[in-house]
Amino acid sequence: MKELMQSLRESAVQAILNADDAEKLENLRVRYLGKKGELTAILRQMGKLSAEERPVMGQLANQLRAELETAIEKRRAELSRVMMQKKLEQETIDVTLPAKDMRLGHKHPMYSVLDQIKDIFIGMGFEIVDGPEVELADYNFTKLNIDEGHPSREWTDTFYFTEDSRILLRTQTSPMQVHAMETKSLPIRMIAPGRVYRKDEVDATHSPMFHQIEGMVIDKGVTMADLKATLNLVVEKIYGEGTVTRFRPHHFPFTEPSCELDIQCHKCGGKGCPTCKGEGWIEVLGAGMVHPKVLSGCGIDPDVYSGWAFGMGLERLAMGEYKITDLRLIFENDVRFLEQF
Ligand code: DAH
Repeated sequence: MKELMQSLRESAVQAILNADDAEKLENLRVRYLGKKGELTAILRQMGKLSAEERPVMGQLANQLRAELETAIEKRRAELSRVMMQKKLEQETIDVTLPAKDMRLGHKHPMYSVLDQIKDIFIGMGFEIVDGPEVELADYNFTKLNIDEGHPSREWTDTFYFTEDSRILLRTQTSPMQVHAMETKSLPIRMIAPGRVYRKDEVDATHSPMFHQIEGMVIDKGVTMADLKATLNLVVEKIYGEGTVTRFRPHHFPFTEPSCELDIQCHKCGGKGCPTCKGEGWIEVLGAGMVHPKVLSGCGIDPDVYSGWAFGMGLERLAMGEYKITDLRLIFENDVRFLEQF
């Protein structure tokens, strides 16, 4: 039996040293030390031994088990060190290799224009506010002094969510005037850019979704002169110093008086060209003095406070600035188009 154990030791130690991966090593452990392994098989024969020999052999067997376990552990540690070494060698990074070409995107042309406008107004002490695109008819129309029968309230013009025409997709950013007056303390100087929705067929100049920027100032003693001076300044910052403007009387239910602001065509200087469609002038925005009814409806005393407001289309501005002739290009996001800016 001693001899059997001796030869088991020799072959096992050799095999363990030769094992070249963790799986083989585990197989060896099972083969020699497992429940059905070779050492167990030898120990089964203990019964044949004499009472004196049994404890001696038992001790030898325990020694052998311990020795083989140690050998296996040692080999396992060695193997994992070798594996790690190999892995590190394979995965070395050559920092001198040229980097992969990265494609960097850039700002969408419409957002470049928006950022420019935000900068101009922030510079004048305005705050930028955001509000809901799903709106109550109350805010989109009623509180803006737009009567029940007004054509813009028609189902053919406006996206409604409810049969009772109470909830809708805002058709303009003007409801932000009401939100601002209801929630902010006076004085107010704000602009509110955002998406608006109308039931328009898609073509080169129309889209059912587009962007507007609303602006409003409410304070004591605000007059039409403030409106004109501020908007003239904004126009000069966008289109360049000396840009000629024209304030044309107009009608909006929520401002009184109301006007539209045109700029003299910066392309032809007012002679008439394709950019201004032969008109010499380009319409930029609608504006006016906030209607006293709108002020009082928002809890502001029109005898103490006054204000002016404007609303402009962002796409049209970007199209003018970048000579984009088709509105659809702005929303398609074709990189061949976007990369030109
Ligand atoms: N909301 C108007 C529109 O969509 C634009 C507008 C006109 C906004 C006059 C104003 C304003 O704030 O004072 O056509």
